[in-house]
Amino acid sequence: MYPFWEVPFFTSGMVIALIATFHILPCHLATGAFWFTVFVERKAYKENRPELLEFIKKYTLLILIFCFVIGSLSGVGIWYAATVASPRGISGLIHNYVWGWATEWVFFIIEIASIYVYYYTLGKIDPKSHLMMGWLYAWAAWISMIIITGILAFMLSSGKWVETGGFFDGFFNQTYWPQLFTRTALMFCIAGVYAAIVASTLRNKGVRRELVRAAGLWGVLGMLAGLAFTAWYLHRLPAHAKELWLDQSLPYLGHLLNVAGISYAIVLLWFVICCLIRPKLAGPVSGIIILIVLFLGIGAGEGFREGARRPYIIDQYMYGNQIVARDIPAKHIKAEVPKFNKEGFLSHLFFRPDKINPDNKTQLLRAGSVVVHYQCGNCHALDRFGKMRPLKRLLANLEPESPEDIEGFLDSLGDYPYMPPFAGNELDRKAASEYLFSVVVRR
Ligand code: HEC
Repeated sequence: MYPFWEVPFFTSGMVIALIATFHILPCHLATGAFWFTVFVERKAYKENRPELLEFIKKYTLLILIFCFVIGSLSGVGIWYAATVASPRGISGLIHNYVWGWATEWVFFIIEIASIYVYYYTLGKIDPKSHLMMGWLYAWAAWISMIIITGILAFMLSSGKWVETGGFFDGFFNQTYWPQLFTRTALMFCIAGVYAAIVASTLRNKGVRRELVRAAGLWGVLGMLAGLAFTAWYLHRLPAHAKELWLDQSLPYLGHLLNVAGISYAIVLLWFVICCLIRPKLAGPVSGIIILIVLFLGIGAGEGFREGARRPYIIDQYMYGNQIVARDIPAKHIKAEVPKFNKEGFLSHLFFRPDKINPDNKTQLLRAGSVVVHYQCGNCHALDRFGKMRPLKRLLANLEPESPEDIEGFLDSLGDYPYMPPFAGNELDRKAASEYLFSVVVRR
């Protein structure tokens, strides 16, 4: 186990969630935008209307800065945050998908090179070569989505990989295609929002109306297709995820879907009313409000995906607290819960208190704090002011009267469909319950 990263107030997982939710805006814009750009540029050449090129210049500059400065930084931010929040989770992914990421980065480099060439050569080279550059970018960006979606989907449903350990068995799993198509449809929605905002700032009134409408149409079509693909995606969720959601084991999953659904409806209405019917209304002000709605909807939708795979961080393979859940013989990976139950959890930690005497209360509490941080801290806030599923309050609801009551609860942890079992021997369990009992808020 690596050192535990404690984020006061709202847990390390939420740090990743915030960065990742933001990152989706630039990354889906980056993948969706150029299909629209190429569409407008072709129109400009075909109908001989150079005035349309003003849009291309502005929109491409936005993508260049928003996606390739802010988007890249937040992408690196996800890597940093995920690496310290869940080092073993990231390691598990890298050990399987390092070549996936390597391939993705090749396409990133093509994207980066081609967007610079595209932006700086607009109007300076012959239209045909310039368009080629646009196509090159559009395809490279979408291919990077094709690759990364496989790794994301693997975390939600690891498929036959748990038996075979095969790269493609995990990659093309049951949620891969619906997720790829949903993201593809939604990239047109996100690209449409930004395109409408940029188009609304153009000088030429006629072009402004025309392009806001066109962006609106792309957005609406993307969103309508997105509805069908989302239904398919929800239908293909693993049985366990459906149980958490539909049997209300985790009621907040339903709430998240509601938030996502309402945001979806608002964005769709905005496209219809403010872009298609009255393009005048699609200015930066309403556009920025819609971006905020989009942000909330994305956060809820991705939060659903992350929540639905509990108790795992990688479906079937690794629990949210980074303990390996089962044998994966093809990869020579062994389940860790039986090992920790037998040999002790603390004794396998590199960073742990050096003296643990079960009769010494101070030492026991300190050891318990370490066990609880490792085994519960990825999902529960442990600090005094913690807001994210605070353990001190959740435990208080169970009204434990002694550390033994909590020991009993720890034994039952694996019966919850969304929590990993407690992993450790007598000493770990005793230390953890003494510590947990000491932090429960008593009313
Ligand atoms: C993989 C994430 C995860 C881990 C690890 C985890 N929990 Fe939970 N726990 C949850 C979720 C999700 C809930 C549901 C709370 C909610 O509705 O948000 C929950 C609920 C609880 C509750 C309330 C149960 C009830 O019946 O009301 C307690 C108590 C609790 N956890 C204790 C623990 C302890 C102690 C540990 C560590 C030994 C732990 N959890 C580890 C995800 C986790």
